[in-house]
Amino acid sequence: MAILGMPQLTSAKLRMNFVLCLCWYLLLICADSQRTDPDEVSALRSIKKSLNDPYGYLASWRRGDPCNSNWTGIVCYNRTLEDGHFHVRELLLLNRNLTGSLSPELGRLSYLIILDVMWNNISGTIPKEIGSITTLELLLLNGNQLTGSLPDELGNLSNLDRIQIDQNHISGPIPPSFSNLRKAKHLHMNNNSLSGQIPAELSQLPVLVHLLLDNNNLSGPLPPELSETPNLLILQLDNNNFDGSMIPSSYGNMSRLLKLSLRNCSLQGPIPNWSNNPNIAYIDLSLNQLNGTIPTGALSENITTIDLSSNNLTGTIPASFSSLPRLQKLSLANNSLSGSIPSTIWQNRTLNSTERLILDFGYNMFSNISGSPLAAPNITIGLQGNPVCSNNILLPFCGPHEEDFSNNFNTTNLNNCPPQICPPPYEYAPASPSVRCFCAVPLFIGYRLKSPGFSDFLPYENSFKEYISSGLGMNTSQLDIDSVAWQKGPRLRMYLKIFPAYVNDSVRTFNRSEIIWIREMFGGWGIRDNEVFGPYEFLNFTLVGPYREVPPPSSSGLSKGALAGVILGTIAGSVSLSAIVSIFILRRHIKKQHTSSKRRPSTRISIKLDGMKDFTYGEMALATNDFNSLTVVGQGGYGKVHRGVLSDGTVVAIKRAQEGSLQGEKEFLTEIELLSRLHHRNLVSLIGYCDEEGEQMLIYEFMPNGTLRDHLSGKSKVPLSFAMRVKIALGSARGVLYLHTEANPPIFHRDIKATNILLDSRFTAKVADFGLSRLAPVPELEGDVPSYVSTVVKGTPGYLDPEYFLTHKLTDKSDVYSLGVVFLEMLTGMHPISHGKNIVREVNVAYRSV
Ligand SMILES: *[C@@H]1O[C@H](CO)[C@@H](O)[C@H](O)[C@H]1NC(C)=O
Ligand SMILES: *[C@@H]1O[C@H](CO)[C@@H](O)[C@H](O)[C@H]1NC(C)=O
Ligand SMILES: *[C@@H]1O[C@H](CO)[C@@H](O)[C@H](O)[C@H]1NC(C)=O
Ligand SMILES: *[C@@H]1O[C@H](CO)[C@@H](O)[C@H](O)[C@H]1NC(C)=O
Ligand SMILES: *[C@@H]1O[C@H](CO)[C@@H](O)[C@H](O)[C@H]1NC(C)=O
Ligand SMILES: *[C@@H]1O[C@H](CO)[C@@H](O)[C@H](O)[C@H]1NC(C)=O
Ligand SMILES: *[C@@H]1O[C@H](CO)[C@@H](O)[C@H](O)[C@H]1NC(C)=O
Ligand SMILES: *[C@@H]1O[C@H](CO)[C@@H](O)[C@H](O)[C@H]1NC(C)=O
Ligand SMILES: *[C@@H]1O[C@H](CO)[C@@H](O)[C@H](O)[C@H]1NC(C)=O
Ligand SMILES: *[C@@H]1O[C@H](CO)[C@@H](O)[C@H](O)[C@H]1NC(C)=O
Ligand SMILES: *[C@@H]1O[C@H](CO)[C@@H](O)[C@H](O)[C@H]1NC(C)=O
Ligand SMILES: *[C@@H]1O[C@H](CO)[C@@H](O)[C@H](O)[C@H]1NC(C)=O
Repeated sequence: MAILGMPQLTSAKLRMNFVLCLCWYLLLICADSQRTDPDEVSALRSIKKSLNDPYGYLASWRRGDPCNSNWTGIVCYNRTLEDGHFHVRELLLLNRNLTGSLSPELGRLSYLIILDVMWNNISGTIPKEIGSITTLELLLLNGNQLTGSLPDELGNLSNLDRIQIDQNHISGPIPPSFSNLRKAKHLHMNNNSLSGQIPAELSQLPVLVHLLLDNNNLSGPLPPELSETPNLLILQLDNNNFDGSMIPSSYGNMSRLLKLSLRNCSLQGPIPNWSNNPNIAYIDLSLNQLNGTIPTGALSENITTIDLSSNNLTGTIPASFSSLPRLQKLSLANNSLSGSIPSTIWQNRTLNSTERLILDFGYNMFSNISGSPLAAPNITIGLQGNPVCSNNILLPFCGPHEEDFSNNFNTTNLNNCPPQICPPPYEYAPASPSVRCFCAVPLFIGYRLKSPGFSDFLPYENSFKEYISSGLGMNTSQLDIDSVAWQKGPRLRMYLKIFPAYVNDSVRTFNRSEIIWIREMFGGWGIRDNEVFGPYEFLNFTLVGPYREVPPPSSSGLSKGALAGVILGTIAGSVSLSAIVSIFILRRHIKKQHTSSKRRPSTRISIKLDGMKDFTYGEMALATNDFNSLTVVGQGGYGKVHRGVLSDGTVVAIKRAQEGSLQGEKEFLTEIELLSRLHHRNLVSLIGYCDEEGEQMLIYEFMPNGTLRDHLSGKSKVPLSFAMRVKIALGSARGVLYLHTEANPPIFHRDIKATNILLDSRFTAKVADFGLSRLAPVPELEGDVPSYVSTVVKGTPGYLDPEYFLTHKLTDKSDVYSLGVVFLEMLTGMHPISHGKNIVREVNVAYRSV
């Protein structure tokens, strides 16, 4: 058992010294790097434990350090704080299909600014412990299955800007303690089961702009004090039951109010005089039992929508309804209004090419029209169910009435470009006068206006594009609206496409930091709310094509220097050290789990495999002198490996599947597509493939220095120094770490051994043969279940994780074990199994005797 290139070390004790030395070295690197606050790390582990993560998004939370190893959805402060630790700044888990519940340990993330778990299916209650995170600015829990009541403690969040709990099943009252949220601008709590009265104390919120409480079980009376909320712009309370109470007359004195929506609230009594609501643009008081007459006060010239339908209103239409320049919808249907309808409502109105006007006077007691009923083609007037319909001339207006605008559309135009020729996922970016058509990869954003200030989107489409693109500091030609649909609320759902700016023909994608920035702009409400469009919701952020490589949704903003130091420590900590330590300890808990062979949703096969060369059989035969046996450089379970020389002189390794190892064409291409996305300096890279004449071959870069095993067993002439061995150990660890954490879906190698660690001309370690390892399985639904799969045991004797061997359950730890064996080989020069001796047992015995 010679250790090549090192003094001959015969005694087990001496060998042990080397093992300990390497451990010490790795430990030192570890201790050197600054870490995330351990309290927060353990909180994150509890948070993960209480969530179910069917698609394995939180798989990266199992290893390394939250702030330093790209844990999904964790953004940290870019430097250590006073206590010398890194701290979690944002928890971003939008739209990850998570279930389970929110752990009370969330409260220990005591420097958190954004808590975002929107659009999952998380159930359980809102932990009161969140109330102790006084740094919190955005509390985003909307779109889940949360139950229970709102904890009083949330009122302690003195820095909170926005609370979104909408679209859950939260019940109970709104805590009066919310009046302490001195910085709260947005209380979005619609579509829950909140009950009780709206606390009058909310009027003390100095900067509150949007109060959305629609679709709850709130009861009356409405607090008159709300009118004193100094900055309130939107008051939306539809579909609650205020038990026949009145709209406080003070609501007519809200000088900044833009939108008042009290649809279907069981309100009675008169409509307050709105002459002191000079900015009001949208009024919906429909479906109540309001009585009395319509106020005569002047209306803002910005008004788009007046819906007073289905009440018990009497009297006549006030003169103030005439010539409203932006009116889109006026509905007075189903009341007891009488007198004559003034044609000045529409006669003096000039519509531009995008505008329409819908007027509904149906089912009242109107007896005539003053002036002409003739109107521009884009104005519809409904008179059905009025005495005025006895006049035959008006019959055309007395049929069934068009109630609403159909604004829903799917973009089909090609942005004025020729019929689509961009290969997916490329698309034409909208052409502009200065930029001709060019193909680029867009970002897809699911977006929704929660409380728009209009009824018809068409006239606002351009200003909307202007609003979003200027909010992002972009050109309007970088934004395209893919589709638009009105939803209940009414809310306006859109899918937006954002294109990179045209720089030159080779820039067609966003870079990583641009993507992260755009996500932050939408998800952190960096695009300011607009008076017309109102608040928006961020629904999803879909990364396609080349963007799938970007770690979603963000990662720590550490500076490069900080990273460099930390990465080394992390890798050492998470792989090498744990591998070696685990061998010494050889004691790992086996958890009882049910079997699963569930995979990730299938990877789409695209015929065009980016950067992958599709070789012909002829080219391969030529490269290998017709697969001459002299060119064989290796042999594995899959088949033979040939050294080949391509026509351009490139030397390659050609792995040719033998009969019995052939896969279906679809599986083969899927595998290649997967492999083509893996790029790491410690992985042997795939150059191309050949799928022809019943042959399947994979073509890799050629590794001139052969396998690590060759160098350890003296086949090669170059001895490996200790420094080279450490470099190779770290390199292989990095390669394996990449497969486990960066590959999407993660890959378990399943056959790590010294003959699968190849060395390039500079002795950089490159992990080989990972292509044929099966995809890492996706964790099952419940609990903190690590990835595993029940399967036939594969692998090489001596490297097999005993736990895997016993349980047939594969985890990433199996690879780590095998890698640990490789490390022991490097330290001792031994084979894993030789002359009946097992390297792990030998080292263990030696260690105990030290
Ligand atoms: C985190 O991700 C970035 C970008 O993919 C990468 O450059 C960096 O090395 C990763 N850090 C770690 C510790 O994996
Ligand atoms: C760290 O973040 C702060 C604010 O978030 C920023 O002002 C600063 O420039 C960042 N520093 C580095 C080194 O990125
Ligand atoms: C949440 O659950 C509902 C019903 O169980 C389902 O319709 C919806 O698609 C789920 N949403 C997510 C994001 O998983
Ligand atoms: C999440 O669930 C929804 C519906 O339940 C499904 O349509 C969607 O594909 C899932 N998303 C992911 C990323 O798996
Ligand atoms: C109408 O809206 C515009 C911008 O949205 C605003 O500048 C203007 O002051 C408003 N006018 C009135 C009378 O409210
Ligand atoms: C409105 O209805 C209330 C009862 O709900 C009644 O007392 C009141 O007189 C009515 N007002 C008018 C103007 O009809
Ligand atoms: C409103 O009018 C309907 C019928 O027009 C009537 O049944 C109802 O009693 C009225 N409600 C009030 C509060 O006046
Ligand atoms: C039409 O009028 C609306 C206001 O009602 C305005 O926002 C829009 O820019 C106008 N469109 C055109 C094409 O002039
Ligand atoms: C409508 O226009 C006519 C002439 O253009 C004008 O005399 C009249 O005063 C206008 N009516 C209103 C209510 O503005
Ligand atoms: C308005 O009417 C004209 C003429 O009928 C029509 O060409 C145009 O498309 C209409 N505009 C809208 C927004 O419907
Ligand atoms: C848009 O496309 C979706 C899905 O293809 C379809 O369900 C919807 O009806 C379309 N909407 C319109 C207005 O064509
Ligand atoms: C996400 O957005 C895309 C379009 O951008 C849409 O097709 C998809 O259905 C959305 N997914 C979810 C879960 O909302």
